Amino acid sequence: MTEERSARSLEEKEMFFPPKEFSSNAVIQNSEIHELGQDRNEFWNEQGKRLDWFKSWDTILEWNYPFAKWYVGGKLNAAYNCLDRHLKGARRNKAALIFEGEQGDRRVFTYQDLLREVSQFANVLKSLEVEKGDRVTIYMPMIPETVIAMLACARIGAAHCVVFGGFSAEALKDRIQDSQSKVVVTTDGSYRRGNSIPLKANVDRALPSVTCINNCVENVIVVKRTGQPVDMIEGRDIWYHEAVENVSIVCPAEAMEADDMLFILYTSGTTGKPKGVVHTVGGYMVGVSTTHEWVFDLKEEDVYWCTADVGWITGHSYLVYGPLSNGATVVMYEGAPDYPEKDRYWKIVEKYRVTILYTAPTAIRTFMKWGESYPSGRDLSSLRLLGSVGEPINPEAWMWYYKHIGREQCPIVDTWWQTETGMIMMTPLPGITPLKPGSCTIPFPGVHIEIVDHAGDPVPKGKSGYLVVREPWPAMLKTVYGDDKRYEDTYWSQFKGLYFTGDEAKWDEDSYFWVTGRVDDVINVSGHRIGTAEVESALADHPFVAEAACVGRTHEVKGQAVFAFVSLKEGIAVNDELVDELKAHVVLKIGSLARPDDIFLSTELPKTRSGKIMRRLLKDIAEGREIGDTSTLADVGVINFLKENIDARR
Ligand code: WTA
Repeated sequence: MTEERSARSLEEKEMFFPPKEFSSNAVIQNSEIHELGQDRNEFWNEQGKRLDWFKSWDTILEWNYPFAKWYVGGKLNAAYNCLDRHLKGARRNKAALIFEGEQGDRRVFTYQDLLREVSQFANVLKSLEVEKGDRVTIYMPMIPETVIAMLACARIGAAHCVVFGGFSAEALKDRIQDSQSKVVVTTDGSYRRGNSIPLKANVDRALPSVTCINNCVENVIVVKRTGQPVDMIEGRDIWYHEAVENVSIVCPAEAMEADDMLFILYTSGTTGKPKGVVHTVGGYMVGVSTTHEWVFDLKEEDVYWCTADVGWITGHSYLVYGPLSNGATVVMYEGAPDYPEKDRYWKIVEKYRVTILYTAPTAIRTFMKWGESYPSGRDLSSLRLLGSVGEPINPEAWMWYYKHIGREQCPIVDTWWQTETGMIMMTPLPGITPLKPGSCTIPFPGVHIEIVDHAGDPVPKGKSGYLVVREPWPAMLKTVYGDDKRYEDTYWSQFKGLYFTGDEAKWDEDSYFWVTGRVDDVINVSGHRIGTAEVESALADHPFVAEAACVGRTHEVKGQAVFAFVSLKEGIAVNDELVDELKAHVVLKIGSLARPDDIFLSTELPKTRSGKIMRRLLKDIAEGREIGDTSTLADVGVINFLKENIDARR
């Protein structure tokens, strides 16, 4: 396709169809599948059968609004479904995990290998008296032991709480404290662009300030990854490699109730404190297994690569539980896309003959910026399907991905979902759904999504509104850990009877969905969810800061970036060094993912007469557009001052 035609077709919203051969071999070829999904209970009842259950369920769904129980009475184990059941057949010696380290080291685990390692580590946890229902924090880089630790927890019925390795000691502390984890699993360090980041040292910094209610953090298990020096505290800290030595390789999988907790994953919301999103064993596993097979058109011989970090929900659902429950071969890469060169991803595709690639728009825009010579220098002919997740993909990035990575041969599945939904909720099914660049197309079968107005009434086609889910779905979060009320207030209070996603979206004439982004106080930076309130409280924690207000602004590569407006305490002078210091303070409090791109220091922030900061106007300034209605402001001078000064810097 010429550039000229591609631009025209975007304007016309031309549809892209899968190659004939792709459709005729696809896992899902029947477009009536969406109609089948209309009967929610029947549909998910049927899909439940794809897993191995120790005991089948009696009732598909008990819906006690807003609390759902799926597969009631059923018993199963997530690790058993990811491992043991594959050993009965031809997958016994199939590669489950192909790991590539940033330094070029490689380890391959067959399903049998993985079961052995998981069982051994599960026995280690048991020997430390970790029991069903206990929590284990996993603060690790992208290495096989992270997956092994997750599955070992699942095997014995402990809930894992994976904390992304990029979070600071302080953010880690909050998450350990909220979960009251009994054990923390970490590494000495993690590699990033050849440097090493001291994870164990962060754990050491975090633990002394954790308030323990009951037996929390009795042990820290440390995987040796970088070999950098660490302090081991006698009686508390244990080396992983020593702990697994001579431990039995047999560990029976605990029979869990379908509704038991599988894991907690913390995510940002509209308040300062991150929420512990709780996922259950049964519904979650059915949801991720079904969507993984259908959305990625998974075949036995595929080599599937999801580039997401296991610290995020995409890593949980589509690097671990979805693909392993389906017996896939999964590629896991430890490091940065530009180490040692900017073609590292394409080298990996070439080396392992990757067939399915699942990545994020921010990565695609970065590759666009680097230029097409990097992918074109590598053999990408093994690829047959591409995926995108985490934020809206702009049509230009979609076209670039389609053309330069997919050679115009690979359908792109733009998948919309959230930490809370657990599974992909809107997506093309690649053999049957015509694609439109920038649209995540239509809901997955058995999922009922709508766009509503302020009053909660569905908007007509062609209009925008709030994105909601009308009916329960199997991988939905069970609650916010330890806080049912927060669960109810956050998700079910805006629109009676509907789950509110926090997103805004539009429907087009073909009933395709176009998600435009968050309407709450969440900023999506490179596909990472950052709560404005979290960044604001990190800034306000600095001794010189009186008040802070953060908004998201459009960023060419990251999608959005954090723009912070900060007012200083009396007598503190505005200066450039302070800006850097405040940025560093946010990194210290949360992690570098939350570092504001811009900080503007001033003596005052624009407020209403009742003293509320007007973020809407700050957003207008950050985006460099005309300021909206200022009639409720106490003092228009403040906003005019900000606008003039910030515009002058552009
Ligand atoms: C955004 C990531 C548009 C959305 C799986 C959502 C998307 C938030 C898409 C959840 C997509 C995710 N198109 N927007 N395909 N995928 N989002 O919890 O705003 O990290 O609410 O889950 O990311 O982010 P989370």
